[in-house]
Amino acid sequence: MGANAPGAQTVEGLSTDTLCTDTLSGDAPCGGPRPHSEAAPQPRLAPYPGSWAVYVHFPFCLHRCNYCDFATVAHRDPPRERVLAACLAELALRCEGLEPAPIRSVFFGGGTPSLWGAPAISAILGWLDRWAGLAADCEITLEANPGAAEEGDLRGYVAAGVTRISLGVQALSDQRLRQLDRIHDAEAAWVALRTLGQLRREGGLRAASADLIYGLPGQTAAELRADVTALLDHGLTHLSAYALTIESGTPLQRLVARGLAPATDDAHQAAMLEQMPALVASHGLQRYEVSNFAVPGSECRHNLAYWQGHHYLAVGVGAHGFLPCALPGAFGIRTANTRSVAAWFEALEAGRLAEAPPEVATAESHLDEWLLTGLRLRDGIDLAAVAARFGDTVASALAQAAAAVPGLQVVSAVITVEAAAIVRLDDVIASLAVSVSRRWQAARALQRRASGGIGLR
Ligand SMILES: C[S@@+](CC[C@H](N)C(=O)[O-])C[C@H]1O[C@@H](n2cnc3c(N)ncnc32)[C@H](O)[C@@H]1O
Ligand code: SF4
Repeated sequence: MGANAPGAQTVEGLSTDTLCTDTLSGDAPCGGPRPHSEAAPQPRLAPYPGSWAVYVHFPFCLHRCNYCDFATVAHRDPPRERVLAACLAELALRCEGLEPAPIRSVFFGGGTPSLWGAPAISAILGWLDRWAGLAADCEITLEANPGAAEEGDLRGYVAAGVTRISLGVQALSDQRLRQLDRIHDAEAAWVALRTLGQLRREGGLRAASADLIYGLPGQTAAELRADVTALLDHGLTHLSAYALTIESGTPLQRLVARGLAPATDDAHQAAMLEQMPALVASHGLQRYEVSNFAVPGSECRHNLAYWQGHHYLAVGVGAHGFLPCALPGAFGIRTANTRSVAAWFEALEAGRLAEAPPEVATAESHLDEWLLTGLRLRDGIDLAAVAARFGDTVASALAQAAAAVPGLQVVSAVITVEAAAIVRLDDVIASLAVSVSRRWQAARALQRRASGGIGLR
């Protein structure tokens, strides 16, 4: 489906032969992993770039933090077995029709998947291994919360196959943790961090990461520096630092709206983020994504798959996936599960998926998304990968468009954002997207004229 295929027409270098904008109904002929039909067997759909990344969502937490808008429900004793059965049922439905290519990463996210228990993690991994095979070096991440993962639990997860634990530390001062409405204190984070250190020394756990939230009202740059330094002194090889976001519909947003909690400040948050690269460099970590830092070689393979436009399978409440699709001109379908735990259980227990109609990723929408995520990466967007996916014509048009956008550089066939432009990254990406979008519109207009007024859908 190369954009430079014979007969394709181009304007300013962008082909129109890959454009379509369908939204699929559940049984449209996309060839995706729809429930079984009586039609002739279709070839199985292989993922780009030849391997799978799999996301599994556990939708419960002991307490719902007031800033959080993830798909999760507070529960003292979550129905672990029921979630497992529904996830396995969803995997069976979604994998029908998909090529069982090797699995290079599995990510157990949430919610608080460290509440699920090692038998559930083991059962999911066993299912995936039987279906397609876990690659020998498969990265298997589990998100764990301090206070919701004792030493024995963490050991059990590693014994079940988890190779990487991402600990939701958020802050290392009790004052900031209370401000964040977390249920654990700093000591609970330290207990978990010591266990992770021990598991790494014993060789079972390959990687340990921590999440921090910064830019809380009143928090100083020195406080963030102290937390980062303490974590890195402890030997972590990966760190994610997220600016506190006041998400709409959350209790925190309502408090801010009523003047009962202070709002965050963009300039304050930008200044805090700006100090991170130099700070982590002293411990050998590099920024490889705007909010993510790692010792070279310890980058999160699973998240890189999202950011580099790969296909991935996602199951669980609220989970979003990107699957291959047989529709001509389509680059995949985007799946989005319901955020309702009850509706998700009900559908899967009746043998159905609980999802919105999947959306087709056209060349235009797929490239747009790739720009959004790929330009957040230190390694930027490799034009050879763009050419392999969309054709040489699109890759060279993109290179030309990028070269004209201040803040972007094109060196050795790779587009990256200049370091000084990272603070205005959203504007830089928007400028490139507008330039690329104009080219698509011109390409569409040309095709409409060429086809006697019958426009592309
Ligand atoms: C899916 S959450 C779950 C991880 C785990 N349950 C926990 O809270 O420790 C992943 C990360 O997103 C970040 N996060 C969630 N909501 C956020 C918000 N509103 N603003 C900034 N970061 C947020 C936190 O750092 C959190 O660790
Ligand atoms: S931030 Fe983590 S622990 Fe808190 S409600 Fe969200 S998913 Fe649960």
